[in-house]
Amino acid sequence: MDAEVSQTQDRIDVLEELLNERYSVRAFLPKEVDRPTIEHVLTTAQRTASWCNSQPWQVIIASGEAKERFRQLIYKEASAGFGDDYDFTPPREYVGIYLERRRESGFQLYNTLGIPRGDKMGYAKQALENYNFFGAPHVAIIHTDEPLGIYGAIDCGAYVSNFMLAAQALGLGTIPQAALARHSGLIRRHFNLPDDRRVVCGISFGYADVAHKVNSYRTSRATVADTVTFVEK
Ligand SMILES: Cc1cc2nc3c(=O)[nH]c(=O)nc-3n(C[C@H](O)[C@H](O)[C@H](O)COP(=O)(O)O)c2cc1C
Repeated sequence: MDAEVSQTQDRIDVLEELLNERYSVRAFLPKEVDRPTIEHVLTTAQRTASWCNSQPWQVIIASGEAKERFRQLIYKEASAGFGDDYDFTPPREYVGIYLERRRESGFQLYNTLGIPRGDKMGYAKQALENYNFFGAPHVAIIHTDEPLGIYGAIDCGAYVSNFMLAAQALGLGTIPQAALARHSGLIRRHFNLPDDRRVVCGISFGYADVAHKVNSYRTSRATVADTVTFVEK
């Protein structure tokens, strides 16, 4: 193998390794991430592409006492049964293959935790863990500019992906959380967001508790053949 080919191989190997290793972490160690490491993740994610290079993502990162105050507030609202206060319309319905995939990943989670099928109380209790940020020491809130509409949210989605990969490369665990966006009004009030900002999602992050059983399973992916149509003639 010549040097150029070998370097290309190394680069795709690294990317594949990061993509294959990453998973949604639902139990974290209490250890905080130091500021230079967080800033390294953020600087890397800033290279995300966006429509017209608008870079609509703005990020609030709550840590320490600020995270704890926010956790208490959002947990209280969620556990009282409030929510559905999204800035972006959530999925109306999961049907067909999308419902199947949703069920598969849900059952993986519940089976791993020993929550019996149909145990609605068990499901709800686990869902509430979103509002404890799964024990993460840091939570990021990603918000976009209202006039950019759905494409601003798409750009933020790409940012979230790059944030997660950069974090993975630096030894951190992450979980993207649309569950936090169910409480967009609370988030806007608590963090004094201007009226023209729209909450896309959160990302809880820190060091994964790899010994916790909730972090022991991996979700599947459809094949390229299931996903892509090549059109040549
Ligand atoms: C935009 C987005 C929002 C998500 N919101 C939540 C959430 O609120 N709570 C949760 O437990 N997982 C959430 N997830 C994680 C997905 O369930 C997870 O990415 C998917 O099942 C694939 O598993 P993996 O991340 O372990 O590969 C979200 C993922 C994405 C991309």
